Amino acid sequence: MAKETLVLMVISLVGVMQWAKSTNAESWASRLEAEKENVTNLQFYFHDILSGKNPTAIKVAQPSADNKSPTLFGSIMMADDPLTEGPDPNSKPVGRAQGIYGSAGQNELALIMAMNFAFTDGIYNGSCISLLGKNPAMNPVREMPIVGGTGLFRFARGYAVAQTYWLDLATGDAIVGYNVTVVH
Ligand SMILES: *[C@@H]1O[C@H](CO)[C@@H](O)[C@H](O)[C@H]1NC(C)=O
Ligand SMILES: *[C@@H]1O[C@H](CO)[C@@H](O)[C@H](O)[C@H]1NC(C)=O
Ligand SMILES: *[C@@H]1O[C@H](CO)[C@@H](O)[C@H](O)[C@H]1NC(C)=O
Repeated sequence: MAKETLVLMVISLVGVMQWAKSTNAESWASRLEAEKENVTNLQFYFHDILSGKNPTAIKVAQPSADNKSPTLFGSIMMADDPLTEGPDPNSKPVGRAQGIYGSAGQNELALIMAMNFAFTDGIYNGSCISLLGKNPAMNPVREMPIVGGTGLFRFARGYAVAQTYWLDLATGDAIVGYNVTVVH
């Protein structure tokens, strides 16, 4: 037991020494020159299904029943929506859009979107981008900021352009095309 602890201590000390050698900064901070940035364009479709037995987005909060807001102001949805390569729900899955969206507009339909696009295809499997912004969902084209990312998308910033491809007004089910450009 004691021997294992000692081995661990030696390993972590060697690690700290190497790390310290690689910088000329304080013990707790270091500065590295950044790699050159890349620009990546991603195009996929988002399937937001509210109806049926297996909805991909569910309402998790709403204002009291006497609030008759025409814009559903105050309603919040939690989504785990499939992302696919094409508009057909059976086309190749490329990831999931997991997060919340809610109605944040009193006089217009304006959603606040806080979503992680978690990719599962190819080299992007395991990498995420985070979207946070205003989505006036009835406009034909909406632009929203990409505020960060993980994996291959570390330090990501950019924008998403969303265009509704198909909408069932009765149920709210929608297929939305996303065209995302990120610098990372
Ligand atoms: C940019 O892309 C190149 C080639 O794919 C890669 O080697 C490099 O690590 C990328 N840089 C960043 C900062 O992601
Ligand atoms: C993505 O990565 C996970 C975990 O490493 C793996 O289980 C899965 O099969 C991968 N998916 C694809 C489509 O490559
Ligand atoms: C997607 O966005 C890129 C970058 O803004 C643009 O060049 C491209 O034409 C767009 N594609 C579509 C289908 O809108």
